[in-house]
Amino acid sequence: MRQHVNPLSKNFDEIERIPTLNEMFDNSKLNLHIDIGCASGEFLFDLALENTNWNYLGIEIRERLANSAKLKLRDKEIKNLYFVFGNAYNILNDIHNKFIIKNLKSISFNFPDPWFKKRHYKRRVIQPEFINILSNLMKEGSLIYIKTDVKDLFEYMDCTISSDCNFEKIDKKDFNYYKSFNPNKVQTNREKYVLANELKIFENIYIKT
Ligand SMILES: C[S@@+](CC[C@H](N)C(=O)[O-])C[C@H]1O[C@@H](n2cnc3c(N)ncnc32)[C@H](O)[C@@H]1O
Repeated sequence: MRQHVNPLSKNFDEIERIPTLNEMFDNSKLNLHIDIGCASGEFLFDLALENTNWNYLGIEIRERLANSAKLKLRDKEIKNLYFVFGNAYNILNDIHNKFIIKNLKSISFNFPDPWFKKRHYKRRVIQPEFINILSNLMKEGSLIYIKTDVKDLFEYMDCTISSDCNFEKIDKKDFNYYKSFNPNKVQTNREKYVLANELKIFENIYIKT
C-alpha cells in the first residue's frame, strides 16, 4: 500500500468545496479546531465525542484515509466533526474558504510526515509560505500546536514558525490545557505508538500575536 503522496502534485490543485459552517456543524458558533494530517480521523472522533463544546475539522491529503473518515462519520451521528480531503495548504489558501476563520481557535500538526531526504523537505506540510498564510488567516490569540518524534523535523518546524514574527512560543508550564481543544490530552494513533515504544515526543505551542 502507498504510504505517502507528493503534496506538490498537480492532482491536489483542484480542491473539494467546503460547505458553510452551518452545513458542517450543528452549532456553528462553537470554537473551531483544525487538525492537519488527520489520517482516518480516530483522534478527532475521540475528541469530538468527548468535547461537544468544540467543533473539529480534519484535513487529510490521502484520499483513502479521508474517505474512510467520512464514511465512519456518516454512520455515527456526530455533529461537531467534519473531514475534508486535500492538501491543507491549498484548502486554507483558497479565497472561498476564508469563512473558516470565523471561530477558528487552534490548529494542530500532529506527527507530520518527516520527509527525511533533503530534496524532499519542500514536501513537508509546514513551509514558510503556509505559515505566512496561517499568520494572515488566524486571529490574535489563536494557537498552533506541533508534535513529532523526529528531532530534526521538530527543529525545522520550530524554526519555520518562529521565523514568522506574528507567532510567539508559549511556555507549556503556564499553559491551561483545560481550555484547549484537547483538555484531556487525547493521544493520536502515532502518539500512542511512540509512547508504547518509549520514544521521545517533541512539542510546542505558538500563539498568534
Ligand atoms: C505520520 S501521519 C500522522 C497522522 C496523525 N496525525 C497521527 O498523529 O497519528 C501524517 C499524516 O499527514 C497527512 N498529510 C501529509 N501532508 C499533508 C498535507 N499537505 N495536507 C493534509 N494532510 C497531509 C498524511 O497523509 C498522513 O496521514
